[in-house]
Amino acid sequence: MNKDTRIIALTGAGVSAESGIPTFRGKEGLWNRYRVQDLATPEAFTRAPDTVWEWYRYRQELIGKAKPNPAHLALAKMEEIFPEFYLITQNIDGLHQKAGNKRVVELHGNIWEARCIAEGKIIECPPRTGNDPVPYCTCGSMLRPNVVWFGEALPVEALERAYQLVQDCEICFVIGTSSLVYPAAGLPMVAFEAGADIIEVNPAPSPALGISIHIREKAGIAMPVILDEISRTKPV
Ligand code: OAD
Repeated sequence: MNKDTRIIALTGAGVSAESGIPTFRGKEGLWNRYRVQDLATPEAFTRAPDTVWEWYRYRQELIGKAKPNPAHLALAKMEEIFPEFYLITQNIDGLHQKAGNKRVVELHGNIWEARCIAEGKIIECPPRTGNDPVPYCTCGSMLRPNVVWFGEALPVEALERAYQLVQDCEICFVIGTSSLVYPAAGLPMVAFEAGADIIEVNPAPSPALGISIHIREKAGIAMPVILDEISRTKPV
């Protein structure tokens, strides 16, 4: 591995689990406690925007208190070491950026942004005012969370960039994702077919294909060890 090695880290909710943010699947997962069709579909928003916003306000509160964990920090350090390191995330929590990563592709949007349902304009999510959890655009239309819901397409630019990056990488870390939700779950296979080595970091097995190395450990434990190992070899 040298300084110019092209490295991708594809992350999912598991990378933020040790920051206290619940994952989606599994026993404690959000989709075990809440119904997707009530909270994370365009139809749910049309039916009850206040319910949907209430849930995103609750999640903002939780995420707002969370700090990057050792996995986020190790990934930020990797970006410093390797000029060709890029992060592709399914997470909407912004913790990678909070840890210091700048080269981040967000596939599922960002919970701190809102989008006008009429104009499509994306702005920083306004804080809640009064009892109404729903924020409004200056044009008078409702704003929605700038996140991808079930049944919606991913932002085209982000997805295209992600495909470019995985097609061109030499090492692809797949960290903390159940690898069940497409198109994100298909990205490691694209990297594999392009000849990259795929390293999965996940305490549980996943259906991901093409993995060269499985590290069955929490990201907050595994990633600092991997970083130490890389730093020890002083890539030039
Ligand atoms: P999931 O909740 O589906 O999966 C989380 C994964 O993280 C599981 O495979 C866990 O085993 C693993 N995990 C748990 N703790 C971990 C830890 N400390 N370190 C490493 N791994 C750990 O979350 P995602 O795969 O991110 O989409 O879910 C993908 C998408 O489904 C999300 O972006 C969201 C969701 O519905 C939308 O909302 C569009």
